[in-house]
Amino acid sequence: MIPDLKTAIPGPRSQDLAQDLRRHESRNVTYLDDNWPVFWESAEGCNVWDADGNRFLDFTSAFGVAGLGHRHPEVVEALTSQAGRLLHGMGDVHPTALKGELCRRLSGLTFERWEDAPGKVVLSNSGFEAVETALKTARLATGRPGILAFESGYHGLGYGSLLGTDLAKFRGPFEDQLAAVTTRLPFGSLGFPDGDAIGAVLVEPIQGRGGKVLPPPGFLLALREWCDQRGALLIFDEIYTGFHRTGKWFACEWEGVVPDLICVGKAMSGGFPISACVGRAAVMDCWPESAGEALHTSTFLGHPVGCAMALKSLEILARPETIAQVAETSIVLEQALAGLVEHPAVREVRGRGVMWGVVLTRPVGDLLARLLAEGLLFLADGPDGNVLSFTPPFGVTEEEVAFAVGVVRGLLGCEARPG
Ligand SMILES: Cc1ncc(COP(=O)(O)O)c(C=O)c1O
Repeated sequence: MIPDLKTAIPGPRSQDLAQDLRRHESRNVTYLDDNWPVFWESAEGCNVWDADGNRFLDFTSAFGVAGLGHRHPEVVEALTSQAGRLLHGMGDVHPTALKGELCRRLSGLTFERWEDAPGKVVLSNSGFEAVETALKTARLATGRPGILAFESGYHGLGYGSLLGTDLAKFRGPFEDQLAAVTTRLPFGSLGFPDGDAIGAVLVEPIQGRGGKVLPPPGFLLALREWCDQRGALLIFDEIYTGFHRTGKWFACEWEGVVPDLICVGKAMSGGFPISACVGRAAVMDCWPESAGEALHTSTFLGHPVGCAMALKSLEILARPETIAQVAETSIVLEQALAGLVEHPAVREVRGRGVMWGVVLTRPVGDLLARLLAEGLLFLADGPDGNVLSFTPPFGVTEEEVAFAVGVVRGLLGCEARPG
């Protein structure tokens, strides 16, 4: 359904809520100005309604979480029926059966599918925690502190994951508290360092927030070979790219390269903060048996509601009709966006599957607010903020994509004219 906005955006209720937020939420969390944000109230499929009753089309999948669409009815049912039985457990002390089931399922989707070998899992809450689990695993398994990471890589904002995250704006104020263990190369560079200090190679198989950057062919394989020669562990951060976002279960499958550890989150549950680090079992067994106190855990680990939602989401993601829908939407997006390539304000269109970036000749600037005013939810990516990100739910229709691309083209047309 195409939005039909007749009011000013943000509407009066969103403006009131923004004023209230300005008073009570710390600065720097929510960006607030006269044109931003709207306050979400409900959502379904590709549609979001705000506190003023306006309807928007979501081309962000809410940070890549809602691949199956907002509030998928079967996921909602999994949530409510689990919440009616047990709302919280004791993840690493007295867990639920669901935790084991989810670990088994994640092993089945990764290492058992890739190489017929079992995987083992550490669950966590946010994506950055899964990355930190992977970095700790590599430290334990190899005994080496060094990390190889890549320019424009994004791995989250915890102190551990910031060792991998590149984007300077996130690291800057905390740089003097970050251990100097990271070697950073341009994404795609084959100039790997000498020496054997590096235990972890942390990389997104396709960069997401860095601007939807595809790896040059052979890059991931070269990393695999370098890790094998040096005894380092290869960590694929598929928190953004996982679960069909790029048109395959995992983006690494485009290159046929298997990591030692994979981090997943976002779309795994369709809306509950749950993430996982999955490793080849032989690697994960570097963690010692628990002597009663886990070395690495948290209060909400293996949350029963998150596990129930993730299990249902994974079941839906595995259905042939979901896979067919991803394939169809991938083609629709690719073809619609190809029409933007010739636009003078567009430098490049790149991506894969249901994850595309339109690289503009200058920062996205107020384009996001103007898109919002047309009923379209978009985000910008890339170190220079000049990549308009197209990551809709898989069920977005051809008509909706055509509408969004038409609006973007119209707004870029205005922007491209001098003055
Ligand atoms: C590739 C990648 N890794 C890690 C993260 C961090 O995940 P979270 O924000 O859930 O901590 C993100 C978030 O966008 C991501 O895109």
